[in-house]
Amino acid sequence: MQIDILTVLPELLESPLSHSIMKRAQAKGLLNVQVHNLRNWAINEYGQVDDYQYGGGAGMVILCEPLANAIEHLEKENHYDEIIYLTPDGETLNQKTANQLSLKSNLLLICGHYKGIDQRIRDNYITKEISIGDYVLSGGELAAAILVDAVGRLIPGVLNDETSALTDSFQDNLLAPPVFTRPANFKGWKVPDVLLSGDPKKIEEWRYEEAIKRTTERRPDLLKE
Ligand code: 6GU
Repeated sequence: MQIDILTVLPELLESPLSHSIMKRAQAKGLLNVQVHNLRNWAINEYGQVDDYQYGGGAGMVILCEPLANAIEHLEKENHYDEIIYLTPDGETLNQKTANQLSLKSNLLLICGHYKGIDQRIRDNYITKEISIGDYVLSGGELAAAILVDAVGRLIPGVLNDETSALTDSFQDNLLAPPVFTRPANFKGWKVPDVLLSGDPKKIEEWRYEEAIKRTTERRPDLLKE
């Protein structure tokens, strides 16, 4: 999968995508993330990419021209399945959307900043708008990093043990059950006996019950879906 990201702050995206599973996905050639600096398409020698908003009001808006030129430049090299704008008024990201996006080949992510981007770019280039939750971030970069992580780890072959994505929280609308590792007794706090029983069927049943219990307590809304 190829993911291109357009941003005024490429530095913000470097570290989150250079470690752990995202690093491995790229090293294996399963994921190629390219970050592009919107300032390369600035409208003047000062690197201007934003301006005051019509109608007045605080906050700058990213201009049409650099965004349109950047998108059209990138579209010459790639046919994008989706051009996604990260914005708090987008559709809230969930596991279902991450699963769907993990099946695509080419994505272009647009990070807004300041007050956002000119509405005409949203109307004419953007095919999907995604928010990562009901709170406001300073820009779309951290949201883009989260989207790339959530989607990238689902690409077949990225995770070592393919089943581990299947047992994640949310994969079946259930939160994941508790997990334990050595020692079996730490300060008198014991690992549930069933996990030491060596009986895979019993263990699976226990995990399922715990997942139901946890979801009922913490996220009853998921059970209704
Ligand atoms: Cl995608 N962008 C910004 N700026 N804030 C957010 C968000 C995105 N999702 C939640 N809050």
